[in-house]
Parts: sequence; C-alpha cells; structure tokens
Amino acid sequence: MFGEIFEIAPQTYWVGIKDWNRRVFDSLIPLPNGTTYNAYLIPGKDKNALVDTVNPGFESDLLGKISRVLDPSKIDYLIMNHAEPDHAGAIPTVLQIARDAKLVLTAKGAEMAKRLYRVSDERMLIVKEGDFLDLGGRTLRFIEAPFLHWPETMFTYFEEEKVLFPCDFFGAHYAGPENFDDEMGELLIHEAKRYYAEIMMPFKPPVSRALEKISKIEIEIIAPSHGPIYRNPKRIVDAYAHWVGGPLENKVVVIYASMWKNTEKMVKALMTGVAAKGVKAVLFDLAVADVGNLARELVDAKAVAIGVPTFVGGPHPFALYATALIKALRPRLKVAVVFGTYGWGGGGVRQIKEMLEASKFEVISTHEAMLSPFSEDIEKMKKMGEELAEKVKSL
Ligand code: FEO
Repeated sequence: MFGEIFEIAPQTYWVGIKDWNRRVFDSLIPLPNGTTYNAYLIPGKDKNALVDTVNPGFESDLLGKISRVLDPSKIDYLIMNHAEPDHAGAIPTVLQIARDAKLVLTAKGAEMAKRLYRVSDERMLIVKEGDFLDLGGRTLRFIEAPFLHWPETMFTYFEEEKVLFPCDFFGAHYAGPENFDDEMGELLIHEAKRYYAEIMMPFKPPVSRALEKISKIEIEIIAPSHGPIYRNPKRIVDAYAHWVGGPLENKVVVIYASMWKNTEKMVKALMTGVAAKGVKAVLFDLAVADVGNLARELVDAKAVAIGVPTFVGGPHPFALYATALIKALRPRLKVAVVFGTYGWGGGGVRQIKEMLEASKFEVISTHEAMLSPFSEDIEKMKKMGEELAEKVKSL
C-alpha cells in the first residue's frame, strides 16, 4: 500500500520504497520482480537516526513516511552504509530538510559523498570500525565491510535490538507483498542467490571476511537494503556461506549463440555427452537468456561450455558479452570448453578461449567446424561432453 511503513523491531521502522515496476538495474541486470530500497528510521530519546535512503525520484515518498513517525527536520544522524544512488540518492534532500543532521559514513564514503552528492565536510561525521552513536538508550555501532560491493561499504549494528543493517549484503531484488523472510518460501533464497551472483560474487574474499566478522555478533534480525527482512538471519547467512565456499555442484552451464542453428547442433551433441555421464547441464541461448538467471547458475557450477559462431572475423557479440560477464562476475568455475562454427575464416572460438585463459579459467578442449557440423563433428562434440562430464565428476 502506498505510504506503508512497518516496525521491524520495537520502534524501528521500515520507511523504504517498493519499486514494483523497475525492470533493469545498472543498465544491465533484469529485475523480473522489481526491487525495494529499504531505509530504516530509529528514533531515540535524545537523537533520531535514519539508516540509508532511497533511489532518486522517491524523495517525497521517503519524507512522507518518516513524517508518520517524526518530523523529518528532527533527524540528527543520516547513516550512509553505501554511496550508490539507490540507497544514497535522497541524501541531499534529507540534509536540506534536517538542517542540523550529520551524514555518518566511512572515510572512503566521505570522498564519494562529496563527489556524488556535493556534501560539505562540516555536514559529515566519519566513523570507523567499532565507533558508535548513542541515540539515548539505543546504540548504533559501525562495522567496516569494504568492497561489498564498493570500497566504502559498512554495516550498522543496532545493539539493543540486535539488528544488523548490512545494506546490499544479503539483499534480494524482490518487491512483493511480503515484508519478512518467514512470509516467503524458497523463492526468497532463489532471488537472493541471483542477487549474490550479480553483485557480491566478484568479491568473494570480502564476503568471507564479512561473514567471519558478523559470526561474532549476536544477530536477531538482518535488515538489508533490498528485499525482505530476515527474522531468521541464519537462513541467509548459511546460504551465503554455502555460495562463497561450499561444495560446487556437478553441473555444466552451457551458453551459446547460433545464427543458423549450426552451432546449436554442436550444443545438442555436447549436452547428450554430458547427460550420458550423469552430469547436470543448464542451457542458455544468449539470444533470449536472462543474464541474471545465467549468473545464478554460475554460482555453484564446476564448468562452463561456450558455443560461439564466428561473426565477421571475431566471436558472435552475444558470446563476447557473456564471456566478459563471466570474467567480471568471477564464478568459482574450474574448467571450460569452447566450440562453434565459422563460415570462412574462423577465429571466434580462439578469441573466446584466449579471453577465458587471460582470466585464469582453464579451457580443456575446443572444436571449430566449418559452416555446418558433419557427423564426425557431432561425434567429436558428444565425446567432448562425455570428457567434460568426467572431468567435472573428478573435481
Ligand atoms: Fe543497492 Fe550497491 O546498491
């Protein structure tokens, strides 16, 4: 409902926005379920704090929601856990209304707030690990958690209510009627895994460090800045531990582009070989694939197989794009194979192989066929699938 607010803990209010209609993030990531920008209002006896804000365009909605609890001009601390505009975009508006408020942030965050939001030094309060603010019987402590997923990121911990505000960490792009994790089944973890793949997977060492750090804190509620709030924090903490360091699946992610279904014939033969050895294969036709789903499948796959036709002397642009995405997301893949068709000169397979190897992915085999694969090419692809599956099982 428009204007909805709710308590996540006693006198601790969600004043965020559910952006049901947003369909893309970072001009890259599809948002099939929209997203939310969660902001939290914590009034104290002496001081009032707002944890994060909302995406540009929702400033007046945010102020309206805050007004249902207190006069927005009475905010004393505006906490910026992360500088990206989906959470920090309303900072200029809030600082303009709350004339005495301080923007609370890390030193790196201060550099960013100056550049992005033109915040002056005197309006900022720089904090570091272990610093805290007393709102009057309500204590907010700050935890440095850099590179989740920008260098300035930090968490805020509300000691008395044992609430962790980790901003993007543990988030999910999901706008629905549900406010809490226990109102949702496995769909939430499914969406959180997609979010992890898109946003956090490139930063696995910082993810592991943050999990280690928060394991020492008693947490009853995790209130991220996207998606539902966890009243069962173990649910998402355990999922993250599994994704970042748990066992990988015997799974091959098969991605391909095919202009005239010739590379596709090679894909089918490879899939037959993989399946014959009892290994799971998940297929994405890049002409129609949702890259968020592709990213999610990469989280726990051991291998990727890339089918790439040569297109004007180089890889088909969709295969190039997918390979660049894999390099950027840094999945834990162990091995790869690359194959495809060409018209006259070839080169697509070689260039994708080189791109993967430059990022330390091991390419264990390749095959390139002219125009349309003959039966010997099909047999070769089946064998490539079988050998890939055997390798996957051995890892
Ligand atoms: Fe949800 Fe990195 O912003």
